[in-house]
Amino acid sequence: MTIKRVGIVGSGIMGAGIAEVSAKAGCEVVLRSRKQESADAMVAGLERSLAKQVEKGRLEDAERNAVLGRVKAVTELGELSECDLVLESIVEDLPTKLELFAELDGACGDDAILATNTSTLSVAALAGATKRPEKVCGIHFFNPAPVMTVVEVVRADQSSDATIAAARGFAEACGKDVVDVRDQAGFIVNALLFPYLNNAVKLLASGAATRDDIDTAMKGGCNFPMGPLELLDLVGLDTSLSIIEALHAAFGDANYEPAPMLAELVAAGKLGRKSGAGFYDYAKK
Ligand code: CAA
Repeated sequence: MTIKRVGIVGSGIMGAGIAEVSAKAGCEVVLRSRKQESADAMVAGLERSLAKQVEKGRLEDAERNAVLGRVKAVTELGELSECDLVLESIVEDLPTKLELFAELDGACGDDAILATNTSTLSVAALAGATKRPEKVCGIHFFNPAPVMTVVEVVRADQSSDATIAAARGFAEACGKDVVDVRDQAGFIVNALLFPYLNNAVKLLASGAATRDDIDTAMKGGCNFPMGPLELLDLVGLDTSLSIIEALHAAFGDANYEPAPMLAELVAAGKLGRKSGAGFYDYAKK
């Protein structure tokens, strides 16, 4: 099965990035957000991102217009009925995602694949909320989706070979390297990355080093593009806390116990770049 029309549900950073790579890959993209303003804001963000690429001489004007012409913003789930693949990227909360998967099952055509961009939640549980469990899998993009080169394709026990092949084909058409992983919390990247990020917060809270020195050390000492505290701000502190909590619940390892400072920042509304402040301050435009 070749994916020609993709539905994207969720209007956060990941939804917007996945919409961009899908439209650039030649897919028709239907962006669904509960509010028309959020759906329109995603299209406006896509316009800005493409305009930058035109400015840099990396994209022709005509191609930019063609990409934008393939994207439609909607509010009704029913508008996803013609999609070959629907990829959800909503809040990392299992009950909310279960409800959405049951609704998508009713709204989408019988052959459609329903995929999740979850980082840690059970793909099998989401498959179980539908009457098409063999057509459910994980397609996990990284932030920022237009830049990061890998996608994890997650196979739940119920996922069919045809579903996994179609998911792989879609991610490859988006220009990504695909890695396969079974359905377990954190998959590959987050299972390895988040204990490190969590420990960076514990190190900061212990007073052993300053924020700037922790980030400088990991950039210069390991050649990472960003320090751990900068990266937490990019991913979002609320999302990061959910990921660490899910890893802790799944593996019970004391090392995965969330850093109290992370929970305190989230409780104070400091969510990282998206809220204007996290470990760093970001001037609001
Ligand atoms: N959308 C599109 N393009 C973007 C972008 C975005 N949001 N952010 C940066 N870019 C592009 C820039 O246009 C630039 O492209 P060119 O070099 O072709 O002009 C390139 O990326 C580099 O950007 P900058 O020069 O502005 O900045 P940088 O060199 O500091 O790179 C970065 C920024 C790509 C984010 C880099 O710091 C990086 O790779 N950081 C690590 C990101 C990472 O680890 N992500 C994984 C997070 S974990 C996750 O996502 C899992 C999960 O489930 C939560």
